Amino acid sequence: MKRVRRTSFQTGAALGIVLSLWITGMAGAAVKSHEYGNVLMSQPQNAKTALPVTFRHWSHRGKYTCRLCHVDLEFSQLANGTGVMEEDNRNGMYCGACHNGKEAFALETCTKCHPKDKQHEAELEQQAKREFQKLKETMPGATYGNKIDWMKAEVDGVITPKDFLQGISLRKNDMMVNSRDEPRSPALPGLPEIIFSHSKHVVWNGCGMCHPDTFALETGKTKMSMREITEGKFCGRCHGTIAFALNDCTRCHSKPVASP
Ligand code: HEC
Ligand code: HEC
Ligand code: HEC
Ligand code: HEC
Ligand code: HEC
Ligand code: HEC
Repeated sequence: MKRVRRTSFQTGAALGIVLSLWITGMAGAAVKSHEYGNVLMSQPQNAKTALPVTFRHWSHRGKYTCRLCHVDLEFSQLANGTGVMEEDNRNGMYCGACHNGKEAFALETCTKCHPKDKQHEAELEQQAKREFQKLKETMPGATYGNKIDWMKAEVDGVITPKDFLQGISLRKNDMMVNSRDEPRSPALPGLPEIIFSHSKHVVWNGCGMCHPDTFALETGKTKMSMREITEGKFCGRCHGTIAFALNDCTRCHSKPVASP
């Protein structure tokens, strides 16, 4: 990437195209829209007792905020980082907080999450794909990722993600708001600036999903580069995995630099 940067330094646009091809190439095993945001939950020690469980973000993220699961229910933001056990679920934690026969289908229907065998796994996948197509038809479109513009869906009221579960969540308080924008000038002259909007992120994400582990609580302090982002760090933790894909350069690099 450094080499590319030096040779076509003058023309931000040309570089943009090169980079976008490079990044697309990297994301190359181009994830299908119905598989974008899927997490295969398979801790090695469970291999003998249960087949891997596929958790699908697309079927949950329109119904609940990221915050509800990743802060209140303490799901890790790393695949297999949570260490879910059957007993935890039965005790009303993790998946069991909702899959209790009231909020969502009950744990007793094991095979909705645990495939019986490889063939059943393929059937569950096929069924999920059909349900995804049905959902997608009702949603505003996008070019990459799930090919759903989740943000527009929320703004237009097509979805209203819940941010509260009785007995689990705390009521939001004044500490949990921040409407500051954090502008960023990328280290490449001519490339549009990035505007990070707290207010738009806080609709979905709790403060704790970003602070203090991923971003400093001080404007301009966190050093980040596009390479690190494409490697899944900083903004790339969510963008490129669950939130809109990194191919959408201009959704982040959105503010044109004033012409001299
Ligand atoms: C809502 C989805 C869901 C349902 C329904 C469900 N499970 Fe699970 N189960 C999981 C997840 C997620 C894991 C963790 C998988 C991993 O990380 O390896 C898990 C793990 C397990 C494990 C391995 C870990 C351990 O504790 O030994 C067993 C065994 C298991 N489940 C059995 C069952 C049985 C039996 C049922 C039906 C009574 C059931 N599960 C219903 C989601 C579910
Ligand atoms: C219904 C609960 C739920 C909701 C809502 C939810 N997540 Fe997740 N998320 C999970 C689970 C479960 C995992 C897998 C954790 C594990 O394997 O231990 C996960 C994993 C992740 C990962 C790691 C993915 C990877 O491949 O390493 C990221 C990043 C993430 N979520 C971000 C988000 C964002 C951003 C949102 C909101 C747009 C969101 N999540 C909404 C439950 C949820
Ligand atoms: C915050 C609540 C909530 C949590 C936590 C949650 N789910 Fe769900 N889940 C739902 C709801 C609501 C539905 C849709 C209604 C239904 O099918 O009962 C659903 C549907 C599903 C489906 C069917 C659609 C699909 O994605 O194929 C599966 C499978 C599933 N959940 C697995 C899981 C697993 C595995 C976990 C834990 C890792 C989990 N869920 C955690 C609320 C939740
Ligand atoms: C999606 C990630 C994300 C979320 C969620 C988030 N922030 Fe931030 N926050 C950032 C980034 C990025 C910066 C800029 C850091 C830098 O420039 O080094 C920042 C900067 C800050 C700063 C320093 C600048 C300022 O505004 O005074 C504070 C304080 C802050 N955030 C508070 C919060 C609070 C409170 C919440 C919850 C309401 C929150 N943040 C939610 C990403 C996030
Ligand atoms: C914790 C997860 C997370 C992190 C980290 C994160 N985002 Fe987001 N971002 C989201 C979600 C969720 C949305 C809602 C849209 C979607 O899911 O596609 C969003 C939306 C956006 C939007 C559209 C909103 C708008 O202002 O028009 C922009 C731009 C954006 N993010 C930029 C960034 C940048 C830049 C960073 C890093 C400084 C970053 N994000 C870090 C989760 C995250
Ligand atoms: C999720 C938001 C986001 C998306 C999408 C995104 N970028 Fe970036 N980009 C950033 C941030 C944040 C920086 C770091 C700004 C700084 O220097 O602090 C950055 C920096 C850069 C830089 C400066 C040099 C460097 O390596 O840091 C280039 C060039 C760049 N991006 C190109 C692209 C291209 C091309 C795309 C589309 C393929 C893209 N970006 C998509 C957020 C994004």
